[in-house]
Amino acid sequence: MTFPVQRPRRLRKSELLRDLVCETRLGTKNLIYPLFVCPGSSVRKEVAAMPGVFQQSADRIVEDCREAEDLGIPGVILFGLPESKDARGASSLAQNGVVQRAIEAIRGAKLHLLVITDVCLCEYTDHGHCGVIENGEVANDPTLEILSEQALSHARAGADIVAPSDMMDGRVGAIRGKLDGNGFADVPILSYAAKYCSGFYGPFREAADSVPQFGDRRSYQMDPGNAREALKEVALDLEEGADMVMVKPALPYLDIVRQVKDEFRVPVAAYNVSGEYCMVKAASKNGWLDEKRVVIEILTGIRRAGADFILTYHAKEAARWLK
Ligand code: PBG
Repeated sequence: MTFPVQRPRRLRKSELLRDLVCETRLGTKNLIYPLFVCPGSSVRKEVAAMPGVFQQSADRIVEDCREAEDLGIPGVILFGLPESKDARGASSLAQNGVVQRAIEAIRGAKLHLLVITDVCLCEYTDHGHCGVIENGEVANDPTLEILSEQALSHARAGADIVAPSDMMDGRVGAIRGKLDGNGFADVPILSYAAKYCSGFYGPFREAADSVPQFGDRRSYQMDPGNAREALKEVALDLEEGADMVMVKPALPYLDIVRQVKDEFRVPVAAYNVSGEYCMVKAASKNGWLDEKRVVIEILTGIRRAGADFILTYHAKEAARWLK
């Protein structure tokens, strides 16, 4: 049966009808808000290519977290800009490191908020790579111990979830073992399982001061053309003990989000990354796009593709619009 018997427009007649048959709900509870922690106090410095995103000291981070909590956002993810960098990213393990102190400050403020930490070396190494360098290459196995120590120090400081984003092989298993062996068997791992080597991380590297000083990340992050390999990466991370998996970036990889969702029975996250954010900001500023409309459409599209939750710099604004 087709037209005139079938008339799909019948169900689009009113707001109530459209809402009744809506297939994809976007809620504030689906959003995670990323934050950049720097040393000092009362620091709040806007990132040039990311209007509305700031590098902030722990005291300001707590204020931002309080606002996020008030808006109903369920969690934040923390990235650290350490005081000092070296070849092995030692500052990422320090008990009084930037992220560790920020976690404690957020915990101290008793906020009803999940604190997720990004576990990686690139923000802490002087060469800007996500692993240690041996013979001019990013060395996989020697990096695992540092990453697991870093995850453990985040857990000790009070992180609710650790999220390794380095793309070293075997890191989920190494982190799981380290956490389990030290009394943190109940801290979940959100693995950046399918993380592509993307030009859309550009503004983030300025925000996190993590530009690789030589070469690029193609020997560890994934080739944008590969989909089967993403499913393999996810399967391996789950075997190693990941509780949730992430696809990153989001928009050029919505097919991957969908395939991961269909293939595995675990929560799937998508990272709506810095470059995706700044495109919307720039176009809106020029009056070329209606910001509110496209942000809600983008986030809804990521949900429709299969993401249970989305890491996005739009989180606070979106939460206001969704009220
Ligand atoms: C660290 C990391 C990156 C992002 C999240 N964690 C950058 C990178 O791999 O260079 C990117 C986030 C964004 O662009 O918003 N490894």
